[in-house]
Amino acid sequence: MSAYQKEYQLAQSAPQDFWQQQAQKLPWYQFPKNILSKDENGIERWFADGELNTCYLALDQHVEAGRGNQTALIYDSPVTGSKVQYSYQVLRDQVAKTAGMLTELGVTKGDRVVIYMPMIPEAAMAMLACARIGAIHSVVFGGFAPNELAVRIEDAEPKLILTASCGIEVNKVIPYKPMVDQAIMDSRWKPEHVVVFQRNACRAELTEERDRDWQALKQKAEMAPCVSVKATDPLYILYTSGTTGKPKGVVRDNGGHAVAMKYSMETLYNVKPGEVFWAASDVGWVVGHSYIVYGPLIHGCTTVMFEGKPVKTPDPAAFWRVCNEYGVKVLFSAPTAFRAIKKEDPEGGLLAEYPMNELKAIYMAGERLDPPTLEWVQEKTGRPVIDHWWQTETGWAIAGNPVGLESFDIKPGSATMPIPGYGVVVLDETGEEKSANQQGYIAIKRPLPPGCLPTVWRNHDRFQSGYLSQFPGYYVSGDGGYIDEDGYLFVMGRIDDVINVAGHRLSTGEMEEVVGGHEAVAECAVIGIHDDLKGQLPLGLVVLKDGYFSADGAIEKELLMKVRSEIGAVACFNRALVVDRLPKTRSGKILRRVIRQIADGEQYVVPSTIDDPSSLSEIEKVLG
Ligand code: COA
Ligand code: AMP
Repeated sequence: MSAYQKEYQLAQSAPQDFWQQQAQKLPWYQFPKNILSKDENGIERWFADGELNTCYLALDQHVEAGRGNQTALIYDSPVTGSKVQYSYQVLRDQVAKTAGMLTELGVTKGDRVVIYMPMIPEAAMAMLACARIGAIHSVVFGGFAPNELAVRIEDAEPKLILTASCGIEVNKVIPYKPMVDQAIMDSRWKPEHVVVFQRNACRAELTEERDRDWQALKQKAEMAPCVSVKATDPLYILYTSGTTGKPKGVVRDNGGHAVAMKYSMETLYNVKPGEVFWAASDVGWVVGHSYIVYGPLIHGCTTVMFEGKPVKTPDPAAFWRVCNEYGVKVLFSAPTAFRAIKKEDPEGGLLAEYPMNELKAIYMAGERLDPPTLEWVQEKTGRPVIDHWWQTETGWAIAGNPVGLESFDIKPGSATMPIPGYGVVVLDETGEEKSANQQGYIAIKRPLPPGCLPTVWRNHDRFQSGYLSQFPGYYVSGDGGYIDEDGYLFVMGRIDDVINVAGHRLSTGEMEEVVGGHEAVAECAVIGIHDDLKGQLPLGLVVLKDGYFSADGAIEKELLMKVRSEIGAVACFNRALVVDRLPKTRSGKILRRVIRQIADGEQYVVPSTIDDPSSLSEIEKVLG
């Protein structure tokens, strides 16, 4: 039996023994006796009676072990021209002061803190500071509009909001404070304070009673110690798009998460403490939570926070420059980032300037890794490119190439093998396992391994109905795909209304709600169509109410602006078309799949259930 098979089988047949051994690699305040149990909702929970502190694991343990001088975090910001390195000692002290600032503002264990910040070290400090005092952070991606922020504020009910005066997108300064003000105005829940980190590019006005100046407060704050929390206490809530307009608050616990982070750093990414790990993502996404902040720090690596883009900051060599300059050993980003680089430097000529001697492998996730991108990056960099598949819900990879255990040959289009702990199966509609190479629903046998969500914040029914009810005994991922005859997993795409735009997960259902809210719109369909750079882009097809006409595309423009202002620029909703009617089944269901196939120029079969086959001709005409 190979090393991988042995470990995979152990994790399946004796999960308690397996994860107990993994948990022993961390310094707990109280090591758990109860490795796997069920909570009041009947959901499997890991390490229920264990006690620990995630910030202690990420920072203090390394300082106490005498590694305080090692670099913990490198901040590289081409958009501001700054480069700063923080040792573990310095980062620990900064975080302890930030935690002290939160404590002085009345934040205690279990309180929620919303973090709406750009990619600056203070964002990571804020997350770690919450973890230090047992508060639950909820980071909201900076590209989301005030309305999205408001929805999250209402759901999480934070005591405080931490923000910065602005974000910088290439050369555009985006003031954050007015967006926070707007969101609070729109939200029924009002936080007690908004703490603003002032940046030089744009100063925010702090006129209200409610607002506080981050730098001033932090300067006089006392350092706060780590508090002990239960393994099952939430570390954070991260909202992600579902099929409806309301995002889901994925809850992450402290204990299972820490164990999973440590295990993945060794098994999947194969890095050692002291090595440099760079996830080129954003702290607003799960990749940023797991692999900019928690994973690398818990494992004692050096992490990189890059405030820039793969291109235009200043050129498509940005990734190679950073890897070369800091001796990055593992680089992780989304395929779309490499497609953007490839578009601007198709021959990869800029790579010649950056030998990247330490770089061992490039990992990709966030969307399907298309074989041409895989091949281009592999060929130009000469490094193995490792696709791995995961979700906000799981917090770490469900499938990948576990090179720390055993290295598998890469099959383009496949995320390789299920990671030990994940019982991955492909099911048909009745819940029967499909045979090799047959596509179906990708599901995971319960219990899910440590680190995966135990519930949706204050909405357990949504967890149950959205993930667990369809196939009893399994978690359903929302992705479709197949396992081939060698056990390789191929993830082919979502089977629900979720799309992936530039590695960002978005809900077409939510966009439909926004578009449908326009006074002129009778009905609409938003579908994800193929885009060479961003993987997918949303396209809206709209039927107007009687009496409305779109002169010179005026209504279409209003719809684009509406989605931009209610969801955010990140939705990339740049195309809406008015049509006379939408193709539907006789029972009134819009044929989204067929519309997508027409838009993508794919062959399609006219469904026998179609109400009026001629409705497809118009779609062909407008999309042709
Ligand atoms: N704050 C404010 N606005 C933001 C933002 C942020 N943090 N992130 C993105 N936006 C805005 C952009 O400025 C852009 O606005 P515009 O329409 O006014 O130009 C819009 O949202 C769309 O952004 P994006 O889809 O990122 O497009 P882009 O052209 O700016 O960049 C890529 C394209 C591929 C370079 C970029 O998406 C990228 O680097 N992706 C990497 C993927 C990634 O990090 N995924 C996370 C999971 S691993
Ligand atoms: P998010 O929760 O934002 O990380 O998005 C998760 C979704 O992105 C998954 O359900 C998949 O649809 C998609 N995804 C992530 N990684 C991959 C991958 N390696 N291959 C295919 N799809 C992926």
